[in-house]
Amino acid sequence: MTDRDCIALLQWALPQLGLRWRGFRRVRRQVCNRISRRMTELGLRDAEAYRTRLEVDAAEWSVLDAYCWISVSRFYRDRAVFEDLAREILPNLAHAAIARERRLLRAWSAGCASGEEPYSLRLAWDLAVAPAVPDAQLQIIATDASADLLERARRAVYPASALEELPAAWRRSAFEELDGVYRLRDDFRRGVQLRQEDIRKSMPPGPFDLILCRNLAFTYFELELQRTIQRELVKRLVPGGALLVGAHEALPEPAGLPPSAETRGLYRAPNVGPDTVAPTDWTR
Ligand SMILES: C[S@@+](CC[C@H](N)C(=O)[O-])C[C@H]1O[C@@H](n2cnc3c(N)ncnc32)[C@H](O)[C@@H]1O
Repeated sequence: MTDRDCIALLQWALPQLGLRWRGFRRVRRQVCNRISRRMTELGLRDAEAYRTRLEVDAAEWSVLDAYCWISVSRFYRDRAVFEDLAREILPNLAHAAIARERRLLRAWSAGCASGEEPYSLRLAWDLAVAPAVPDAQLQIIATDASADLLERARRAVYPASALEELPAAWRRSAFEELDGVYRLRDDFRRGVQLRQEDIRKSMPPGPFDLILCRNLAFTYFELELQRTIQRELVKRLVPGGALLVGAHEALPEPAGLPPSAETRGLYRAPNVGPDTVAPTDWTR
């Protein structure tokens, strides 16, 4: 399938999945290669034949949808953001929770890929925040649509390239090296619950002190769906809670949720109203 044919196919198909071509322009090779392999598997000759297949076979849309799950991630992605999380955002959230007589903080990593993002949060908490705020604890729920990626997250074994942005001392204390790959030590997987969930269909109820929804909805989803997702995420934040989108993303409707001037992709919920967190313990 030529690049041009694949682009035409994606421009036709993506909106029907709630996705937008703009988000896929740079990463289309990954999706096009997957579709090409699928066409071979189905014995289809060209993009036109695949399109016809989609028109007559409703089940093929779920196959195509899964091909559009871009899996790129790494530990401490956008290092400056994680540094801000460790130095300021997480300690402030912890102090705010303690001021409201709550010691358990909750975070959600939406679109967690193979665990790089939720485990980065765990490392930031355990190695930088917890020593200074020993009274508080952090629970993390991490969701992804892909069962395969979640299985990898459970194994928690990564190539060296996934750890390049992580502070070297943390890499040494949190991972053991086995034949050139790195396994996250069990201690740093504590309190991270992995769950398969398509964010377009369902979300964990919350509320959350911190939500990370990075390099997913606000890159790949069409605008109307982005607005819906934004509303649902904001509903799940505690007063004063933090929402982090990708460093190159922005909320479609920032009104009412001011972006931070210091940290790229950070938005704060207004700090008004009661702290409504019910003491749900996901780890049970
Ligand atoms: C580009 S990765 C981003 C990973 C991580 N958040 C980061 O910024 O490094 C996008 C992730 O979102 C997942 N994903 C794609 N569509 C999804 C959906 N509808 N619901 C939940 N997860 C989805 C993909 O499987 C992939 O793991």
